[in-house]
Amino acid sequence: MHSLEHPDRLSLDGTWRFQLLRAPVDPVGPDWDEAVVPSLWTMAGTWDHPHYTNVQMPFAGRSPEIPERNPTGVYERAFEVPESWAGRRVVLHVGAAESVLIVWLNSVEIGVGKDSHLASEFDLTASLQPGSNTLTLRVVKWSDATYIEDQDQWWHGGISRSVFLYATGQVYLADVKAIPGLEAGPDGRLTTGTLDLTVDVGFAQPGLQPGWSVEASLADLGVEVRADAPAPAGPADPKDPVSRSLVRRHQVFGPSAIVGDETTAWSTLYAALAPVREGSVRWHLSIPSVTAWNAETPALHPLTVALRTPDGEVAETATLRIGFRRVESVGRDLLINGQRVYIRGVNRHDFDQRTGRVVSAESMRADLVSMKQFGFNAVRTSHYPNDPAFLDLTDELGLYVVDEADIESHAFQSTLCDDPRYLSAWVERVARMVQRDKHHASVIAWSLGNESGRGANHDAAAAWVRRYDPSRPLHYEGAIRWDWTADQAISDIVCPMYPEIAAIVDHARSGLQRHPLVMCEFSHAMGNSNGTLAEYWDAIESTPGLQGGFIWEYRDHGLVQDLPDGRQRWAYGGDYGDEPNDGNFVMDGMVWPDRRPKPAMWEHRRLAAPVRIAGDGTNLAEGRIELSNHQHFLDLAWLRATYDLSVGGETIAGAPFALPPIGPGERAIVQLPGWIAPDAGSGEAWLTVRVATAAAEAWAPEGFEVCAVQLPVGSMPVGASPLEASPIAAPDSSGDVTLDADGQLVHPLLAAPPALTLWRAPTDNDRIGGMAARWETAGVDRLARRLIGIDRDGPTTVVRAEVSTSAGIVVTHEVRYTALAGDGIAVTERVEIPGALDDLARVGTVLEAVPGLEHLEWFGTGPHETYPDRRRSGLVGRWTSTVTDQLVPYVRPQENGGHADVRWLRLSDATGAGLQIDLDRPRQVSATHVRAADLAAATHDVDVVPCKETIVVLDAAHRGLGTASCGPDTLPAYRLGPGTYRWGWTLRPTAAT
Ligand code: GAL
Repeated sequence: MHSLEHPDRLSLDGTWRFQLLRAPVDPVGPDWDEAVVPSLWTMAGTWDHPHYTNVQMPFAGRSPEIPERNPTGVYERAFEVPESWAGRRVVLHVGAAESVLIVWLNSVEIGVGKDSHLASEFDLTASLQPGSNTLTLRVVKWSDATYIEDQDQWWHGGISRSVFLYATGQVYLADVKAIPGLEAGPDGRLTTGTLDLTVDVGFAQPGLQPGWSVEASLADLGVEVRADAPAPAGPADPKDPVSRSLVRRHQVFGPSAIVGDETTAWSTLYAALAPVREGSVRWHLSIPSVTAWNAETPALHPLTVALRTPDGEVAETATLRIGFRRVESVGRDLLINGQRVYIRGVNRHDFDQRTGRVVSAESMRADLVSMKQFGFNAVRTSHYPNDPAFLDLTDELGLYVVDEADIESHAFQSTLCDDPRYLSAWVERVARMVQRDKHHASVIAWSLGNESGRGANHDAAAAWVRRYDPSRPLHYEGAIRWDWTADQAISDIVCPMYPEIAAIVDHARSGLQRHPLVMCEFSHAMGNSNGTLAEYWDAIESTPGLQGGFIWEYRDHGLVQDLPDGRQRWAYGGDYGDEPNDGNFVMDGMVWPDRRPKPAMWEHRRLAAPVRIAGDGTNLAEGRIELSNHQHFLDLAWLRATYDLSVGGETIAGAPFALPPIGPGERAIVQLPGWIAPDAGSGEAWLTVRVATAAAEAWAPEGFEVCAVQLPVGSMPVGASPLEASPIAAPDSSGDVTLDADGQLVHPLLAAPPALTLWRAPTDNDRIGGMAARWETAGVDRLARRLIGIDRDGPTTVVRAEVSTSAGIVVTHEVRYTALAGDGIAVTERVEIPGALDDLARVGTVLEAVPGLEHLEWFGTGPHETYPDRRRSGLVGRWTSTVTDQLVPYVRPQENGGHADVRWLRLSDATGAGLQIDLDRPRQVSATHVRAADLAAATHDVDVVPCKETIVVLDAAHRGLGTASCGPDTLPAYRLGPGTYRWGWTLRPTAAT
């Protein structure tokens, strides 16, 4: 596999004749349908649907057995070879086919490919005929290769990347291996660019005229070199892979050939391209004073390579874009250009909600732009090489890439990695990726695949890469899984999955750490998740030896599915009748299937903020802040900032201000212009600094907000502590509250009385982490209340009740009501949670406001959803919304829409009339049109049944979100156990404005 794009191309994308057979042995019939290339037949409404499994295989059996029913797509089309290609070498490129690809030209079998995520190329020259030719691509879904493509994603069938022909001369550029580096210049800084350049010249036949030469130039750096290409070697060796493939190719038709020890079929890919005698030209170039490439300044240089005929004519040119940079694993630091760079990464699959794994370059760019906009600087191509266009984009936009080979033998991970029948597959999958992607500056590590155990096949693949490209570290989680401190032969990075924060911190402090630690997966973004992301980053930024990681994962893989009733939904495992399946475990992204950001994206953006602020009491009151630059390479000149000072949610001062010219890691004191010292008595004062791009970037327009950071000015209300409540404001009336016979509050603005709640609609983390089952056993989702007594205490009515869970666990609940002027009510509550309820979702009050109060305003964190362990990104202020918009439509419905640290909220109708609730201290609050039981009952967002009332929940305490669907639960500080909980609130009608 080479890394060149030959310019002389003929696209074969478009409409092909198509038949879908039930097995590869079935005869091709006379009737043809049509299929678009590239596309997946599983997404085109055929009888073969998408199928989702995680670890388990989609069919029973052991490697290399495959089911008899084995969907096989036959694609056929005619094409004409352009006249100008006469006498040239013509190669077919199939970008990716899932999974076995068998190529026929004019009824002659040409070759086989078996890697679903790398291109296969076939030299068609000898079988082409003048005029029209018929090309047949047979794509077989299941094979022995399926066992090493057992990634956690949808199974599809089809051709997922472009198909084209290209032509070269008989002597041609076979490959350019350009490995740039950086060395210390005279001043000791890494300013000298280096380039190890090897140009392979291909000679399609023996006996071609010698005297060819190669030139290479880096025009913008004034570098130009030239050398003679060595003359071709002797005639073809009968033992070389070409000849072997000719023998083998008789074996690839029947199912027996597609299974079993047919892994040698991989080499036929090569074989088909192999009739070359390459002459290589090599240079080591040294270029002083280059601008280095890094994710913050992705400086690229065009490298042009030209092949000249013996007469001096240019026969062919190739242009690559290279970036000078250096990657090293030194002790426990992963250094990019000598800097210990934080890896703010995310895992990404090829995904489109309508086309499955067929993704356009525009879609890839949109993914990467959104990553950059939300502060990511790295992406792992989980779990296979992406389209080459993807790496062009990461080079250009500036993202570090862990490039991963297409190997996952998850269901058989303890055996296949040592199975010699898979040896060549292992080595070729890794080697072909490295050969293809070697010149990309953005690739900072080669990954040997995912979740495939640790075996001899890995050693073989790693050894090949070590020799071929020593410039980049190796990455493989299976190698470090059982011991982070051991010497590592095949992974230069300790790249664990889903470790606890304490585990990585303890490791870094143990004195035993020998390798950089970058988590290959952490913070599982399934549903309402990514709790404690801030605590991970606090640990990383304060602990030498920890360098970040890759969130799992970028996008929810919901496929747009038409329902019989005309609606559409995002389908997950099981929705196509696919059995066995792993349900909605495929919906675990930071963005929805249509790429809209989930609230956790804002949390990430805040944690990745390039600019941070701090202040100490006195100076801050005078508008002086300490501002720091959290980038690795850039100063702040590309950014501009404005501040806003608000008191009680109203802006009292604000202005743009100049960012100081500080370098990475530096701090400076800044005096904010036009500052007005806030009056201590007039409400909470908050300083918000918003930082935006000063000019357009490749990934953002000018003025695009990069981060917003906030500081309280002066004293602030005490943080929410679940076990205490501060006294509520004194009552100002001696009126009475209205209670029903059961001692429950009756109020004209309430459709249902306030009640104790101990439960939330389980999140995916709650469900998969086992909490939801424990809540169900404890019966906290079904509470029954028994009135114990009603007493008077001065102006206050005291209602005592016992609340029993459906499992009979009793909670005592005391509510004190005091009437306020004008139908207002002050409420304080006290609850004793017994020892049997040692892990609750929440302790709080749920009430239903009358229909019609659609307008919501609150003072607290916003504007997006926040929870106790995912609230760093919430900005304290006055926010408005409709109640309807408060629903955060996680594809599998679950607890959502909460806001941390709310001081008050107002619900009103179009005239402004309604109600206001004040909390005794900042608390977790939500206001939506969906009852928790209805949320929990729905399986898809489109099935959520809203009500007209507004369901308001005021939480004395609310459990964190954690990431227990895959990884650690939330930290103990965010869990709720037994004890006494007290909280208070007032309800007042508000008049029309
Ligand atoms: C990892 C795996 C990913 C995905 C994730 C859970 O173990 O590498 O592919 O399955 O867990 O969503």
